[in-house]
Amino acid sequence: MGVSMYIVEGGRTLQGEVRVQGSKNSALPILAASLLCRGESVLFNCPRLSDVEASLTILRYIGCTARREGDVLIVDTESVTRSEIPSSLMHKMRSSIIFLGAMIARFDRVRMSFPGGCELGPRPIDLHLSALREMGVEICEDHGELDCRVNDVLHGANIALTIPSVGATENIMIAAATAEGTTIISNAAREPEITDLADYLNACGAKISGAGESTVIIDGVRHLSPASHAIIPDRIVAATLMSAAAVTGSDIRFKSIIPSHLESIIPVFRECGCEIESEGEGIVFRSPYRLTGPKLIRTMPYPGFPTDAQAPMMSVASVANGMTVFVENMFESRYSHVSELCRFGADIRVEGRVAVVDGVRRLLSAHVHARDLRGAAALVVAALCARGTSEVEGIEYLERGYEDLELVLSSLGADIKKL
Ligand code: EPZ
Repeated sequence: MGVSMYIVEGGRTLQGEVRVQGSKNSALPILAASLLCRGESVLFNCPRLSDVEASLTILRYIGCTARREGDVLIVDTESVTRSEIPSSLMHKMRSSIIFLGAMIARFDRVRMSFPGGCELGPRPIDLHLSALREMGVEICEDHGELDCRVNDVLHGANIALTIPSVGATENIMIAAATAEGTTIISNAAREPEITDLADYLNACGAKISGAGESTVIIDGVRHLSPASHAIIPDRIVAATLMSAAAVTGSDIRFKSIIPSHLESIIPVFRECGCEIESEGEGIVFRSPYRLTGPKLIRTMPYPGFPTDAQAPMMSVASVANGMTVFVENMFESRYSHVSELCRFGADIRVEGRVAVVDGVRRLLSAHVHARDLRGAAALVVAALCARGTSEVEGIEYLERGYEDLELVLSSLGADIKKL
């Protein structure tokens, strides 16, 4: 995929209504979990993203078929022929580790390469591996390859996570769904995407309770059958679009979002002076002429402020009155957008996990480079605000998680073109 970029004429007010896409971080684990069934699962509201395509490539490599009809995705996992994922596919998408639990439950023997690190720093998987070992999986790590086998039987276990890891919680739930006996996950991640995965698995016949809470109980069943499921709206895409509305002084109506998934984000926009009201099954978002900077943003596991919304929110803080302190507690290097925001004229200083933003009156157009998914989103938000013509390179990062972002923004009146 060649280098692509957005050309943005910033400084325009947006208006209209937007339907938020399905959640990337819900679609990915559900696609992996579909391997537990034999037959056709139907996923509604599945977003068109390069990370989803990467997952479909893995499923097809294993022997499944997948086809789209509109925004419905039909995955047939009846016949599978391979039980390993080559490193070329593993490195296309770091979160492909989410296939491990599903494949070990289906095949009893799996080879896959260690997922690469990514722009956010090393992405350890120790919690995934230690949990699966407790469930009876023998895992050899050699030369960057994971060689996993179930010698006896995949069985339930009591697993206490030292970190409420989203991916580890998902891998354990998936592996436990058809394991022998009961699995209890303590200190489980509570993200809405965990609950959505449990809803899909329970629709397939699993017995999972407590998803969304810190203790999840999975009673293994012998057999799961395919189901249809509507994927929840993407709360991080919603937060990104709200950031775009805030920095352009716009009033936007959001359809198809679940306000309760934004419980730690909406108060921050209200602190900035935005008015947000529920209306039907959506939200009306109104921005003030001048934003007030939020005082302190600490990223935390759900239901705290999500790390994925930190970058877009930093673009908001960059043009708000006052000083905002960010503390990025989830990843060690998630400030790659800071140097690029400073090219727009933002005043930001980084000290380790802390970033201090001193809001400026306005941003000036610039030519910037994205280096990760949410950083790219933050740069597009800043370009929409900066007067003049800006170029944002590295859109291939953006396309991992945002479906047709330039079309969505254009439909709201933005002047944005993809080169
Ligand atoms: C998921 O990643 C999301 N990805 C990330 O979104 C999100 O930023 C992250 O959760 C936190 O909310 C998907 O859902 C596909 P973690 P994941 O395991 O599961 C450490 C985006 O922008 N850790 O909850 O990889 C880890 O290093 C992406 O859409 C271990 O130490 O995140 C991190 O510091 C980026 N050992 C912390 O836990 C492990 O075995 C949280 O990671 C696993 C994780």
